[in-house]
Amino acid sequence: MTKFVEWSTELSMGIEEIDAQHQILVELLNQIHEAIQQRRGIEVARNIIDRLEEYTRVHFAVEESLMRILHYPEYEKHREDHDSLIDQLSGFRDKLEEGKGSLNFELAHFLKLWLTKHIMEVDKRYVAYFLSQGIRPELSKSSWKQRFWRPFGRI
Ligand SMILES: [Fe+2]
Repeated sequence: MTKFVEWSTELSMGIEEIDAQHQILVELLNQIHEAIQQRRGIEVARNIIDRLEEYTRVHFAVEESLMRILHYPEYEKHREDHDSLIDQLSGFRDKLEEGKGSLNFELAHFLKLWLTKHIMEVDKRYVAYFLSQGIRPELSKSSWKQRFWRPFGRI
């Protein structure tokens, strides 16, 4: 069966660690879509959104620290983009907690569009710069998820 978000070379940045983290985000979006299709309850919805928000924060923190360490010239602009998604995600999580929101296809499509566009148009802008500053494509081969972060079992 086709996945809601398919991982493809178009999404690959060519930096192993970043790709591994983006793949986790893609997997979480697929889980959200599956939960909507299966009409899972509010507890499941909350759980996935919590994990998505938490992992998105972890991932953005990694990207942003690399940008700061390497003095990436577009850091501020990039961070604003991250902050705006985090604001939207936490707003959505608050709504769920107040019993006002629900997981729906509109949200799933918004997240899919946001993530794929952000990777292809915003993240890809830092790749050449990072590589020129000595970041190796095989950066941290044992990925973040294996070392620190493994909450992504199936629901
Ligand atoms: Fe980013």
